[in-house]
Amino acid sequence: MKQLRILVAYGSKHGATAGIAREIGRTSRQDGFDVAVAPAAEVRDVADFDAVVLGSSLYAGHWHHDALRCAHDHAEALARRPVWLFSSGPLDSSAEQHDIPPVHAAATQTRHLHARGHVTFGGSVTAETPGWIAHGLVKHGKGGDFRSPEHIQRWAHEIGDELRSPDRA
Ligand SMILES: Cc1cc2nc3c(=O)[nH]c(=O)nc-3n(C[C@H](O)[C@H](O)[C@H](O)COP(=O)(O)O)c2cc1C
Repeated sequence: MKQLRILVAYGSKHGATAGIAREIGRTSRQDGFDVAVAPAAEVRDVADFDAVVLGSSLYAGHWHHDALRCAHDHAEALARRPVWLFSSGPLDSSAEQHDIPPVHAAATQTRHLHARGHVTFGGSVTAETPGWIAHGLVKHGKGGDFRSPEHIQRWAHEIGDELRSPDRA
């Protein structure tokens, strides 16, 4: 049987979302898929891929420009293949405790691209994250790495199960 190809693209300002994308990529590879992980700004064509996962970090309730641009530029091709979206994320354990609904832009893209699903993962701001707001958060004990590998792996396995399901449309 042909090995299905998955593209995991991401918009990330400081690297936390890139880490989530890499974890999805690792998991899907272990599940037997051929996976490419790439910054959303570097995506030129999605034609070579059977499925696409597109993720973005959240800043002030907004999706990253590169992720939005990628969704917009490849909208037609994306809508013709299975797509999943993710956002990252809250600086607490809320994303692990319950489903966090997509922000407006992610909800809009979910509809436009007929995405199979959207998930919000916890995010990460640490002492290494540049910027005075990040430094302030860390200084006041509100930073931390809230990305859960288990949560990410679980979701990636679900995508794999769905792609392998015999009634995949
Ligand atoms: C200035 C600032 C604004 C943020 N705004 C939000 C937000 O609106 N919603 C949210 O869930 N997380 C928010 N976060 C947390 C980031 O989304 C989280 O740290 C994310 O993992 C960063 O990803 P990146 O390193 O890929 O850019 C914010 C963080 C900073 C520093």
